[in-house]
Amino acid sequence: MCGIVGYFGDLKATDVILNGLKKLEYRGYDSCGICYHNLNTDRFVTYKDKGRVKHLKHDFDYNGDNHFGIGHTRWATHGAPNHINSHPHSSQSGRFVIVHNGVIENYKELVAKYLSAVYFTSETDTEVIANLIEYFAVSYPVELAIRKALAMLEGSYALLIIDKLNPNIIYAGKNKSPLLLGLRNDGVCLASDLMAFVGVSSEYYVIEDKTFVKAEKVDNEYRFSMYDPIGIEFTPIRHEVSLNDDEINRGGYDHYMLKEICEQPSVIRKIMTNYIKDNRFHIKQDVLDLFANKKRIYILAAGTSMHAGFVGKINFETLTKIPTEVFIASEFAYNKPLLEKEAAFILISQSGETADLRACLVDINKMGYPSLTITNVKTSTLAREATNYLLIHAGPEIAVASTKAYVGQIAVLAILAYVLADNPKIDMIKEMSRLAVAMEAIIDKKEYIHDLVQSHLIKRNCFYIGRGIDYYTSLEAALKLKEISYIQTEGFAAGELKHGTIALIEEDVPVIAIITQRHINKNTRSNIQEVKSRGADVLVISTNDTSEPEDDIILMDVHDLLSPALAVIPTQLIAYYKALDMGKDIDKPRNLAKSVTVE
Ligand code: AGP
Ligand code: GLU
Repeated sequence: MCGIVGYFGDLKATDVILNGLKKLEYRGYDSCGICYHNLNTDRFVTYKDKGRVKHLKHDFDYNGDNHFGIGHTRWATHGAPNHINSHPHSSQSGRFVIVHNGVIENYKELVAKYLSAVYFTSETDTEVIANLIEYFAVSYPVELAIRKALAMLEGSYALLIIDKLNPNIIYAGKNKSPLLLGLRNDGVCLASDLMAFVGVSSEYYVIEDKTFVKAEKVDNEYRFSMYDPIGIEFTPIRHEVSLNDDEINRGGYDHYMLKEICEQPSVIRKIMTNYIKDNRFHIKQDVLDLFANKKRIYILAAGTSMHAGFVGKINFETLTKIPTEVFIASEFAYNKPLLEKEAAFILISQSGETADLRACLVDINKMGYPSLTITNVKTSTLAREATNYLLIHAGPEIAVASTKAYVGQIAVLAILAYVLADNPKIDMIKEMSRLAVAMEAIIDKKEYIHDLVQSHLIKRNCFYIGRGIDYYTSLEAALKLKEISYIQTEGFAAGELKHGTIALIEEDVPVIAIITQRHINKNTRSNIQEVKSRGADVLVISTNDTSEPEDDIILMDVHDLLSPALAVIPTQLIAYYKALDMGKDIDKPRNLAKSVTVE
């Protein structure tokens, strides 16, 4: 849940590391730190503190030549976000310095067995790793000591390790948490995410689980070596860095979230370009084969991606007639339902790194089921470890609150269901083109939505209600509002309110109703009357087809199966403008991280 960056090369290391951390900050942002070698004094310098990379960058002095260092931006799992618990952490003597992303599950056992004499300064599991390396380094050469320590760790880790006795090598190891290596003629860079390489390296290598890496300067040349768990050296596959600065900048918008909301029509068009071949939607045959003769589809995901999964379920059941179930990944991982033998799994994940899903995938693979990951990140763990993957082509999503990835996931699920269907009875190309136009139309009205937010109270116990597919949009809408404005919000099945929760409705409680489906229009309207008569401040989002004159936001008509990708947009804008007016940190809401790589 954090970002790590290491650099060794001809450029100024602190520049590369601090710029890299800034780009990775969306992954975790409660504290950060850096350790680098100052060539002029031949000393290592460590700065770290609670707070953002901006503080680390501007409030410390990086004068002096430096070409070697490691940095970290944290999402605390063990110990409060404070100065002491911030990374980098050192071994007791100060010799080994490390940054760590992940969670070491057996750190207490390791302390009891090997490190009972060590005085620990922080509450982190990370400090245990630094000391375990030091423990083995007493009896073994440093490389072997690190590998012995790594072999004992249970849990997840992406680690960069430096030995102060030799400021010419960065060691790295990883299991479950992502780590990439970028190489250029004049340096080596290691980071949790490709974004850190933009402008630094044009090629990179994915580090596999349990790999040990050594990045060093030999005869004036920067090089790296990778070893498998048995210690055999291997050559990894080289990839091109395909991102550019425009894709990861805010491009004139005040926040990434608004930029990403506005990009949604172009995400739909990009998906169409990528999946249309010879004027029809096309999915590679080996993906289609995963679903051949399957009696059931299981969709697993977390958060927003799970909400896209619910929409996917409706698409699959309507178009392919294959019964489809959706599970919360963290529940499925340890509480499995009775599974159909002839089934296929779909894992949906923007980042492709969500640990809850990875835990499921390990089991799915063991049980021998075919699996498909739908993701935004080609090189992600879930893309690599599933039987196959499909990309949502949304471009980097940087705001913690997911927006464009959600509509991308819905579109790809709809295309897959459509291609798998026998006789789909829908012109999906036409419907998706219409969707993109309808998205543009509502985004053009964003200032009007801002006014609506200001004229409605939306400040406590907010409810989104809807039926059928609109209920799923309500769940996503509620998540968006609560995660960035911190207003308690619930997404509710409109008909279910009266079975208890309506007790919470009183004067001016905001209820936002979503009605995009004609067949439930009357029913949801009755539920609106029920809450109105108890004082609720109701706001209605409908479509041309379902609208009544006094409705607040009226969307263009799109196909029922695609309507959630449209109806979600005003709710994203409501969340954005509410959080903006409340002065919240929109792109980096409290307590959250973009990529949830811990269970
Ligand atoms: C969405 O706004 C969230 N921040 C969160 O629910 C997210 O969708 C979830 O953590 C899953 O992430 P993934 O898609 O990268 O797996
Ligand atoms: N478990 C470590 C800590 O709490 C690393 C957390 C992270 O991945 O940011 O410091």
